[in-house]
Amino acid sequence: NYYAVIMAGGVGSRFWPISTKQFPKQFHDMLGTGDSLLQQTFKRLSKLIPTENILIATNVDYKELVLEQLPSCKEEQLLLEPAMRNTAPCILYAALKIKQKDSNGVMIVAPSDHWIDNEQEFINNINTSFKACEENDILMTLGIQPNHPNTGYGYIKFENAKKEIKKVINFTEKPDLKTATAFLNSGDYLWNAGIFIWSVTSILKAFENYLPEMNQLFCQGNQMYNTNLENDFIIANYQKSENISIDYGIMQKAKNIYTLPVEFGWNDLGTWSSLYEKLEKDNQQNAIVNAKVICKESSGNMIRTTKNKHVVVQGLDDFIIVEKDDILLICPKKNEQDIKQIVASVKQKF
Ligand code: GDD
Ligand code: MG
Repeated sequence: NYYAVIMAGGVGSRFWPISTKQFPKQFHDMLGTGDSLLQQTFKRLSKLIPTENILIATNVDYKELVLEQLPSCKEEQLLLEPAMRNTAPCILYAALKIKQKDSNGVMIVAPSDHWIDNEQEFINNINTSFKACEENDILMTLGIQPNHPNTGYGYIKFENAKKEIKKVINFTEKPDLKTATAFLNSGDYLWNAGIFIWSVTSILKAFENYLPEMNQLFCQGNQMYNTNLENDFIIANYQKSENISIDYGIMQKAKNIYTLPVEFGWNDLGTWSSLYEKLEKDNQQNAIVNAKVICKESSGNMIRTTKNKHVVVQGLDDFIIVEKDDILLICPKKNEQDIKQIVASVKQKF
């Protein structure tokens, strides 16, 4: 059977000050569609997978938010993490839980914060990947054609054979700008979409090989998963896990990685300028949310405020201007990757 794990435990700190630890971006309607990013992701996956097979991995602090936003979800579909340990531990936990029920299960692991244009194409691609993972001991990721040297993504070099699904030669998570630029110019790389497909058996084998301590820790709970002892086991043990993403922990190391290059129109919605790209612009290419703005000799700005705030911008290009409650952020778009560090450093001050 097929399963999905939606990872919804990130803080989305590059979207500060809208996205905060109390209310991260996946719970916001970032695009003005009426649905939060999490709700959109859930709806998309429900077209592929029975809703009872969709698990949501998130921090225990967001339990009520998830249940409120996904009323068709039962509490037993939530994997509640008592500590933030990045994506590898929650994927291992989910895989072991699924294995308990269905040792032949095949799963998709999806972030909760992506924009996908063509849903039908997405569904076709996932079905192709599910089949491949049912029949082969492989770890799959969807590959996106890169168009700029983004340093926030994983880069995959693939074997350019005439097959639909390509063997990955190497995987480099978040390269520096120089390396990312070289990768982009070479034309041999795809971006890792962060959407993974594999059988429960294959991913558990990879954890055993590449993250053995984490694997041992979570395997101690095997008898307890899907019973009323699970929660106590997780509360007592989750925080002992190493803090590492699946990209650094498994994808960079495993030898059986494959990628399906996809073209369904993908946007990571990870930063203000990725959101800027999806929003409608005025005739000077400014994207404006909520604010009443007068822009003079200013273009390429991403402006979002509380409702009906009057904003005047003069002679400013390619900036992020975001206001929320008592916080105002003004930052050049080109420095947006730094917002994560800035939030950490201003925390003590505000
Ligand atoms: N449950 C849970 N627990 N989810 C988490 C946690 C956690 O501790 N940390 C992050 N997540 C969720 C986020 O909410 C997001 O949906 C997803 O996992 C990916 O985490 P990000 O923090 O957004 O990762 P990234 O964007 O830096 O990098 C990943 O995605 C890129 C594409 O968007 C990597 O997979 C890159 O290689 C990839 O290119
Ligand atoms: Mg991301």
